[in-house]
Amino acid sequence: MEVLYFVERRLNQARIKHLTSLAGKFPEFRVTQNPQDATLWVAQESNCDEVIDFLVKKKKISGNTIAENKKLVDISWFIGCMKEKKLMDIQPSQLLKRKVDADDGPSTKKSRYSGDEAEEHALFRGDANAEARALAFRRGSATLKAHPKEIVCEEDLKNLPYIGLTNSAKAGHCKMVAMEILSEGFSDEVEDVLNGSFYKSMKLFTGIFGIGPQTARKWYHDLGMRTLEDVKGKNISLTYEQSLGMEHYDDLNTPIKLEEAECIIKMVEKACNEVCDELTMTLVGGFRRGKSQGHDLDLLISHPEDGKEKGKLVLIIEKLKEHFIYTGRKMDVSNNLNKGNFASSTMDNFEKCFSIFKFNKSWLNSNLEGKAEWKAVRLDLIVVPSHQFAYALLGWTGTKHFEREIRRYARTEMKIVLTSHGMHSLDTKQNFPAETEEEIFQKLQLEYRAPSERCC
Ligand code: CTP
Ligand code: MN
Ligand code: MN
Repeated sequence: MEVLYFVERRLNQARIKHLTSLAGKFPEFRVTQNPQDATLWVAQESNCDEVIDFLVKKKKISGNTIAENKKLVDISWFIGCMKEKKLMDIQPSQLLKRKVDADDGPSTKKSRYSGDEAEEHALFRGDANAEARALAFRRGSATLKAHPKEIVCEEDLKNLPYIGLTNSAKAGHCKMVAMEILSEGFSDEVEDVLNGSFYKSMKLFTGIFGIGPQTARKWYHDLGMRTLEDVKGKNISLTYEQSLGMEHYDDLNTPIKLEEAECIIKMVEKACNEVCDELTMTLVGGFRRGKSQGHDLDLLISHPEDGKEKGKLVLIIEKLKEHFIYTGRKMDVSNNLNKGNFASSTMDNFEKCFSIFKFNKSWLNSNLEGKAEWKAVRLDLIVVPSHQFAYALLGWTGTKHFEREIRRYARTEMKIVLTSHGMHSLDTKQNFPAETEEEIFQKLQLEYRAPSERCC
């Protein structure tokens, strides 16, 4: 006899009542309301982790062990039994997968699936728990990346924060996948996610400038779109930004090389000087951390005298106008292109411009002189007042993960709110001015970390 528990996630009470009465006609089945009593959990359109997350939350069942000794099956199996009026074998495809189309733990060195992809995938899914899930993978992954030794056995995972030491279903899951990769060299389900239609389409769609996970999900689920051809063909209305994103899709998804960045830096520097010779321009983002390529180029612009930076951005853009494809508009918290992205946690109120720059290939290759060969690259310009410069520098150097963790640390350990604008005490609201990044680390009682050491 099988004891069934119908998982309420995607099955409403009326449906469960109906299913329960159907099951009552068969001596092979008993239905229970208590998940712990059941031998089989029956769910609709869910994977294992969604079911477990759901039960942990709604039924207050403790995380790690609840699914032990249970089979998690899709409702199609139960419907099949009802149709055939007998107990049917459970097909492998009817067992809920541990991770397919869901989340996956971070990789060890042996897997091509990185924590970044796990984080990304969790964000793509975007259910209520997505941010927390994404963060769990980001943390697990950062822990593995920062680990000085190669991870070769389960023992090595035991004392790692966010993997072995952290007691949650998500950390447990990180560990499980890491172990699977350790023993098998790969993880089937991980490969499935990477090859899966949802992940692939979301990756394509969110690669379009101006498209966040929310729109991409809508396209995938509601409009049945899968490819860029679908985007072109379906006659959907795109914003101006998004149509530029489509037009320059390949360019904008080709990394910018350091030497290309250096060319643009020189040009922006020159334009700044022409506008006002006291303006300063400072490289931030991935290139400041020492990366040799990036998805964009990030530059801070400032003036030694507070207030004198105001109004300069339009003048700089005007100087460079023949080189821009798009200069966006002043971005602030109310105008959020990055909605659904992690940027929301680091949003600031600086005057800025998320632009698309026309990089002329002849600037690097003199053979091309005269030929109009160029590629589109993303360029971010951020204007900051002098007294906030150190904080903006820290905030815009990244990585995103480093920013999130140092802010979380400041708040929880030091009772200090840290942003790209400054830092203040949570209790007394007292502000802490700082001239340099070093001072900020010091105030937070942290050892200074050079940009290259900020979780690349
Ligand atoms: N940032 C921010 N507010 C935004 C966008 C970004 O504060 N609206 C900060 C983030 O903290 C991030 C840094 O600016 O760490 C750089 O962002 P981004 O260019 O997206 O990432 P990089 O680390 O530079 O990566 P890449 O080299 O791929 O550009
Ligand atoms: Mn960048
Ligand atoms: Mn950027």
